[in-house]
Amino acid sequence: MMSERPCLEINNLSATVNHVGERVLRSVSLSVYRGEVHGLVGESGAGKSMIGKAVAGLLPRAVKIIEGSITLEGISLDDLDEKGRRHFLGETCAVIPQDPLTSLNPCRRIEPQITDRLIKTLGWKKTKARSRALELLEEVHIREPKRVLRAYPHELSGGMRQRILIASAFATEPKLIIADEPTTALDVTVQKQILKLIKEMEERHGTAMLFVTHDMGVVAKICKNVSVLYAGKVVEQTDVMSLFSGKNNHPYADALIEATPRYDKPDHSLVPVDVSINQILASEILEADKIWKGVGND
Ligand SMILES: Nc1ncnc2c1ncn2[C@@H]1O[C@H](COP(=O)(O)OP(=O)(O)O)[C@@H](O)[C@H]1O
Ligand SMILES: [Mg+2]
Repeated sequence: MMSERPCLEINNLSATVNHVGERVLRSVSLSVYRGEVHGLVGESGAGKSMIGKAVAGLLPRAVKIIEGSITLEGISLDDLDEKGRRHFLGETCAVIPQDPLTSLNPCRRIEPQITDRLIKTLGWKKTKARSRALELLEEVHIREPKRVLRAYPHELSGGMRQRILIASAFATEPKLIIADEPTTALDVTVQKQILKLIKEMEERHGTAMLFVTHDMGVVAKICKNVSVLYAGKVVEQTDVMSLFSGKNNHPYADALIEATPRYDKPDHSLVPVDVSINQILASEILEADKIWKGVGND
C-alpha cells in the first residue's frame, strides 16, 4: 500500500530572484499523496506561497527555478511545453486563494467566473459548465445557487465568496489543490466553517492538498504531514502528531509550537523564538548557500 505514487513530488527545488540572485527556495523536497493534506508552515516571507506558485505555474516573472523538479501525477512539468503544461495544470491542479474579494472580478457575475476556465481552457460546452457550477454551489452548501450564479461578488458575504472559490477549485476534479492561507482574510467565526468545508470537500473528493498557512492551530485541525519552512529551506518534515509532541529534529519547529496559543493547554504561556535559534538557522542557511555556490565543494 505504501508504494503508492505521490500525487505531487517536489525534488530539490531551488529558485532565485534573478535581478539580485537572492535564493527564495533552497533545495525543497516534499511529497503529497492522494487524500492527504500537507501543511506548509513558517513565518511570513519564508517562501510558502512561492512553492505553491512554482507548482501551479504562477511564479512571478522575476523568480526563476534554478534546479530541481516538480512531478504531478507521475508527469514531470519540465517534460511539457508551455501550452501542454497550461492544459495539464488546468485539469490536474487548482488553487484556493487567500483573499476571496480580490480573486473575484467585481464587475462580473459569479457564473462566468466559475465557468470561464471550464469553457475556455478545457473546451466544455456552456450548458455542461453551467450545470457543473450549480452542482458545485450546492456541494459547498450555498442556498439558492441559481440566484448566486447571477449575483456580483459585492452582493455576497466574504464566507460565501470563499465558498464559491472552493467550489470553483473542485470544478475539474483536480488531483491536487493548493490552498494558500484560504482562511486568513476571513472573520474568525467564518474561518472555522470554511476550514471544515475544505476538509469535507478534500475527503469527499480524495484530493491531495498542499495547505499553506502560518497558523499552527489550523495545521493541527487539517493537516496530516507538515513541512516547516525557514528562509526557503525545509527545516522540519514530519507528521502532525510528532510536530506537536515538542520533540522535533529542528529547534525552530519546537520554537514555533511554543510561540502558538494552545487551547488544549490553557496555562501554556507564549514563548518568542529564541535568538540562539535564529543564529542556528542563519548559519545553516549560510552553509547551504556555500555548498550551492560551490565554495564548499573543494
Ligand atoms: N514578485 C516577487 N519578486 C521577487 N521576490 C519576491 C516576489 N514575491 C515574493 N518575493 C520574495 O520571495 C520570498 C518568499 O515569499 P513568499 O513565498 O510570498 O513568502 P510566504 O508566502 O512564506 O509569506 C520573500 O522573501 C519575498 O520577498
Ligand atoms: Mg504567502
